[in-house]
Amino acid sequence: MSDQHAHFKAHLDEEAATLALGAALARALAPGLTIYLHGDLGAGKTALTRALLHAAGHVGTVKSPTYTLSEPYQVQLDGRAVGVIHFDLYRMGSAEEFLDAGFREDFNGDNICIVEWPEKAEGVLPPADIDLYLSVAGTGRDVELQASTALGTSCLQRLKFAPKL
Ligand SMILES: Nc1ncnc2c1ncn2[C@@H]1O[C@H](COP(=O)(O)OP(=O)(O)O)[C@@H](O)[C@H]1O
Ligand SMILES: [Mg+2]
Repeated sequence: MSDQHAHFKAHLDEEAATLALGAALARALAPGLTIYLHGDLGAGKTALTRALLHAAGHVGTVKSPTYTLSEPYQVQLDGRAVGVIHFDLYRMGSAEEFLDAGFREDFNGDNICIVEWPEKAEGVLPPADIDLYLSVAGTGRDVELQASTALGTSCLQRLKFAPKL
């Protein structure tokens, strides 16, 4: 496996496993990471993000940004304040809406951006360091993570997650 193509696959047999993966990802984050979350409605994208934010130290609710399209948070990463922006672009009407909202400026190499429904902003959305795919499998979920940059690869190399077999 080349360094630029770290890849990870697991079965998440129940919601707790999705939450555990979110928490494990929180411990592997680095400033500037962009993660795309792919998967149908109800696949677990928001559940995973919620667990990630709580494990990263966010106290309080994590709402699904269905209508606001984005919701900013601040967490501490190695003693440094880092912004985490959670996007849900499902209801975004056009690429112009993304640009007019100033969303591109959020992808500034410092913030961590987590994007549900990246397909809706194709062409204007900055590229992902990691693509995460969730799909329904039996009563659980299958998950696949694919890094496509050095930053994403190092994150996946730090990821410590061992689902039950
Ligand atoms: N591994 C899993 N196995 C079974 N159910 C899960 C699993 N992970 C999450 N869920 C459930 O799936 C639903 C996911 O909802 P949500 O996170 O809002 O999905 P999305 O944001 O992808 O539309 C929740 O009801 C959650 O309890
Ligand atoms: Mg969602």
